[in-house]
Amino acid sequence: MTPHRLLITGAAGEVGSALRELLREHLGEHFPVIRLTDNRDLGSARPGEELAPADLTDFDAVLQAMWGVDAVIHLGGIADEDTYANIRAVNMDGTYNVLEAARQAGVKRVVFASSIHAVGFYPRSEMVSPTMPVRPDTYYGVSKVFGEALGRMYWERYGIGFVGVRICSFQQQPKDRRHLSTWLSPRDAAQLFARAVTAPDVGFLVVAGISGNTRRWMSPEGWDVLGYAPQDDAEAYVAEVEHIHGDESDITEQRQGGVFVDSGYVGRAGR
Ligand SMILES: NC(=O)c1ccc[n+]([C@@H]2O[C@H](COP(=O)([O-])OP(=O)(O)OC[C@H]3O[C@@H](n4cnc5c(N)ncnc54)[C@H](O)[C@@H]3O)[C@@H](O)[C@H]2O)c1
Repeated sequence: MTPHRLLITGAAGEVGSALRELLREHLGEHFPVIRLTDNRDLGSARPGEELAPADLTDFDAVLQAMWGVDAVIHLGGIADEDTYANIRAVNMDGTYNVLEAARQAGVKRVVFASSIHAVGFYPRSEMVSPTMPVRPDTYYGVSKVFGEALGRMYWERYGIGFVGVRICSFQQQPKDRRHLSTWLSPRDAAQLFARAVTAPDVGFLVVAGISGNTRRWMSPEGWDVLGYAPQDDAEAYVAEVEHIHGDESDITEQRQGGVFVDSGYVGRAGR
């Protein structure tokens, strides 16, 4: 029997490197083989790993990496604001390449790293559920809305199960007051992504990508479908970080997207 194979895009990145370390204990039986792809150096393959370097903007290369795969965790892309042209090429066209290659290769499940920036303009006073209208704060946020919409189409048209995980702040530990609401710890991320690829019958689902934070602004809707039960709560760091925040009268302190909602914020485009 062919072993079940999971493909992780963006595997050389922050979240990808953590999942590479931590997913194994959750996935052993389901996915004995993990194939890693990125356009950056992935190091050497460890036992149970395959390396498939590819640029997400190159459809043929993405398709090549997709053959023999059963499920995908799509993390690859620009993880910040950038020019519209760059965001379109990597995050939008790149995500199309992943979903279309998945369809052609007969993949059954795609899990997509969406973002809080799909809804970043919501005030912090509001509890955001995945079914509320999107309020993207940047071209980057728009690309995440696009990825979710494309996932919806690939589910309705082709039956590919799709989970969009709106990651908020993936960090080893919270660094400021905002993170008390938005933190996603590495071990909770591993559990959440593992559940997203293994839970049966997810259909199309968008969920909040956060730990069990007491001060969360995102509702846990859909976590029950996945069986995700976070183990961490940012509240444990309150004494260390509660005093770290900006001017409370500024829009960046009032909206969920933080600095991304500043009209002058251009992210990588300014570097
Ligand atoms: N880290 C967070 O808190 C956070 C929050 C919300 C959403 N996300 C999303 O999660 C995903 C992973 O985030 P991260 O923090 O690990 O980002 P990262 O920048 O560390 O990793 C992204 C990876 O994608 C790869 N990549 C970029 N362009 C590529 C291309 N053209 N072809 C192939 N690979 C390419 C990069 O080389 C990198 O290794 C991203 O999609 C990001 O938007 C992350």
